[in-house]
Amino acid sequence: MTPGKKIPIFVDGVVLNGPQTDVKAGEKFVEEVCRLIMEEVVLKATDVNEKVCEWQPPEQLRQLLDLEMRDTGESQDKLLKLCQDVIHFSVKTNHPRFFNQLYAGLDYYSLAARIITEALNPSIYTYEVSPVFLLVEEAVLKKMIECVGWKEGDGIFNPGGSVSNMCAMNLARYRHCPDIKEKGLSGLPRLILFTSAECHYSMKKAASFLGIGTQNVYFVETDGRGKMIPEDLEKQIWQARQEGAVPFLVCATSGTTVLGAFDPLDEIAEVCERHGLWLHVDASWGGSALVSRKHRWLLHGIHRADSVAWNPHKMLMAGIQCSALLVKDKSDLLKKCYSAKATYLFQQDKFYDVSYDTGDKSIQCSRRPDAFKFWMTWKALGTSGLEERVNRAFALSRYVHSLPVRWSAIPEFVPILHWPKSCIKTLAAVQYSRSAP
Ligand SMILES: Cc1ncc(COP(=O)(O)O)c(C=O)c1O
Repeated sequence: MTPGKKIPIFVDGVVLNGPQTDVKAGEKFVEEVCRLIMEEVVLKATDVNEKVCEWQPPEQLRQLLDLEMRDTGESQDKLLKLCQDVIHFSVKTNHPRFFNQLYAGLDYYSLAARIITEALNPSIYTYEVSPVFLLVEEAVLKKMIECVGWKEGDGIFNPGGSVSNMCAMNLARYRHCPDIKEKGLSGLPRLILFTSAECHYSMKKAASFLGIGTQNVYFVETDGRGKMIPEDLEKQIWQARQEGAVPFLVCATSGTTVLGAFDPLDEIAEVCERHGLWLHVDASWGGSALVSRKHRWLLHGIHRADSVAWNPHKMLMAGIQCSALLVKDKSDLLKKCYSAKATYLFQQDKFYDVSYDTGDKSIQCSRRPDAFKFWMTWKALGTSGLEERVNRAFALSRYVHSLPVRWSAIPEFVPILHWPKSCIKTLAAVQYSRSAP
């Protein structure tokens, strides 16, 4: 045998020790696509002379894109052209004139973090697979917990605020009746949760998904500004009890989706404490105000909550998705509620401290290192930079609020997040029909 030459190992007609893919071609392709991303997405991101989107209705777009998957693969040149087309016909969400709900602009550091994690493709269930990203998640959660005002706590990053809210609802129910994990719903009384009429629709979805039922979500009245009225909350809790149902959870909102209202947390916490109810705060949108010394008063009383959902992917511009569920409990409730102790993954006799295998606190198995996107931004800007970002967002919304209600009167430096509702309605049509100005 010639030295260095491998003897092919055949199994079922497959050469097992041959290359799986053409490595050189793959590397070249990635390199070219990286250049394309830099030229067509990043460098053009802030250029107002570029279009937000080359808009096409679905029938035409289907014709323009070669969507069919064939028996044989395409050439590298064809694949590169496909990538160009995908970028060309996609919405440039980083464009200064991209106006859509809840985006706040481009954060380069978070983008760089996303590129790194896409390339590394980690999954943060165990320390052995994601040592760095698990420590990053721990550090970010610790800082977010401090911002809430808890000395200690627990948490996990989830794929979005809707999932964080649902996990909190499930956790509150588990605390109320831990047997549910093994015995299921059949033995339970009618459980009721309370939230404001202005809450995010994820509350209804979660109640339906968890088998609580949307009819058992009691909507508390709001005042003229969209804030939950604590007296009505108290009234509805008594009413539910009179009906023979069992209240278990109140979901307050800090920064409602449409009006941006902040529920009075201190007064709501009073009610929850009086009735022994879990208080969850959906601060998916408004939680970012916690980093601002000027605006954190809006969330006064949040430290009295049992759980908080907070999305850095909204006001703080971390890439989608980036959402934390924070929990005040110190008795490992999150893990008790969600763990399945899969022995193939969470072995207890590994060569390192297995308490860092935090994946069993999540409903997911594979999980993206979303905290890393926020960590990069926080590292780059510092807490003071995050604070400036929030203060600017509030100042912009105050400015826009003072303008005449005409979309064209709004300068391009004001992201949609801060536009009055009346302007937003006409925007989707306007934005896509306009070519570059
Ligand atoms: C108050 C509030 N909660 C929850 C969500 C849902 O967050 P996500 O889109 O990350 O699921 C939103 C989204 O707009 C929201 O405004």
